[in-house]
Amino acid sequence: MNILIIGSGAREHAFCWKLAQSKKTEKVYVVPGNAGTSELATNLDFEVSKFKDLKQNILKHNIQLVLVGPEIPLINGVVDQINNDKELKDILVVGPSKKGALLEGSKDFSKEFMERHKIPTAGYKTFNTDTLHLGLSYLESVSPPFVLKADGPAAGKGVLILDNLEDAKKELISMLKNNKFGSSGHRVVVEEFLDGIELSCFVLTDGKSYKILPNAKDYKRIGEGDTGLNTGGMGSISPVSFASKEFLKKVEDRIIIPTVKGLQKENLPYKGFIFIGLIMVDNDPYVIEYNVRMGDPETQVVLPRIKSDFLELMVRTANQTLNNFDLQVHEETYANIVMVAGGYPESYEKGNPITGIPKDNEISKIFHAGTKEIDNKLFTNGGRVLSVVSKGSNFKQALSKSYEIAGKIDFKDKNYRKDIGFDL
Ligand code: AMP
Ligand code: GLY
Repeated sequence: MNILIIGSGAREHAFCWKLAQSKKTEKVYVVPGNAGTSELATNLDFEVSKFKDLKQNILKHNIQLVLVGPEIPLINGVVDQINNDKELKDILVVGPSKKGALLEGSKDFSKEFMERHKIPTAGYKTFNTDTLHLGLSYLESVSPPFVLKADGPAAGKGVLILDNLEDAKKELISMLKNNKFGSSGHRVVVEEFLDGIELSCFVLTDGKSYKILPNAKDYKRIGEGDTGLNTGGMGSISPVSFASKEFLKKVEDRIIIPTVKGLQKENLPYKGFIFIGLIMVDNDPYVIEYNVRMGDPETQVVLPRIKSDFLELMVRTANQTLNNFDLQVHEETYANIVMVAGGYPESYEKGNPITGIPKDNEISKIFHAGTKEIDNKLFTNGGRVLSVVSKGSNFKQALSKSYEIAGKIDFKDKNYRKDIGFDL
């Protein structure tokens, strides 16, 4: 089977690596990919948002399965475009329809969805440019910290948590009136603050049944002790040591089942990953957010734990035969250290040489993100550069292996958090 993966991060490199292990995989293509994916697959160079080009490439390379990595093409409806095209209607696609992708594409939609299906989440109110004055008085009526969320996609930057009422009011004005996040911020969800520890749960649904994938924890802030600016993710660990069986049962009963049933009831076509960002408060799970894709950097620790054939899992998701699939999982712990360019998540340099990457072995594996190969030499090409993933019998063992490797890899102003797992 020929497969096309959309995306360019370490998540997509991990997809490539996992699919390459399947006997039924023939050729893998990635658009646009990175230097890591080009070792296992063929990188293609075209704009996914131009459907004509996407279609032409699917036909030209005889693609039978499309796996969509990032959220933007999903929110823009790439799955419907493929499904609705006469010549492409038999292509299998892993990813939700445009309507299903609203779970991530609109915070307001996802809050209403949770309300309709009684899924536990923080209390909230939504305001728009016309109701700004109501939003300002609402802020006065609730206690800090104030959680403001831009309704639309904002590359992980659309959530603001503020301790001070005046700052919260200023930010609400700047989103609703001054275009802080463009049209994504023309509606703002103001949410109750939940105090607890976070984890990421991953579910695959074919629209009828579901499979729960290994869970993970990611570390979003740039600074040690979870301080400083939000990033795409600085590290991850799977499984999450504090997620007990009892807790995960609550997640399944109170969140996963009503989510999958809710998608069906509301006729939101969905064949793909559901990434549920959870917070544990007094041993009870609450949904912080839905994403309609796999997480990055979580994928890099979740996929190595899947023992079952990953291509078969993808095919069964897309052709709606997940029900009788026996998902097997490895029990070891995997840890991922994300190496970033100095300055990230603000401005950073690209084009610096990378040295010291070891060959993969039984224990450790490097997934590329912002990398580029020129004349057989490797250069940085983005903020998040590499994911260093290792396994161990516990997370400390796995982390120490990854740290050992991260210490040896070198590029100008390399940076990584030294405290991944500090809160476990
Ligand atoms: P999101 O983009 O919705 O995942 O939010 C980004 C981050 O903001 C989350 O990972 C949480 O750390 C934090 N966050 C979001 N909503 C809340 C909330 N209601 N209470 C506390 N923290 C929150
Ligand atoms: N790890 C968070 C994300 O992928 O959005």
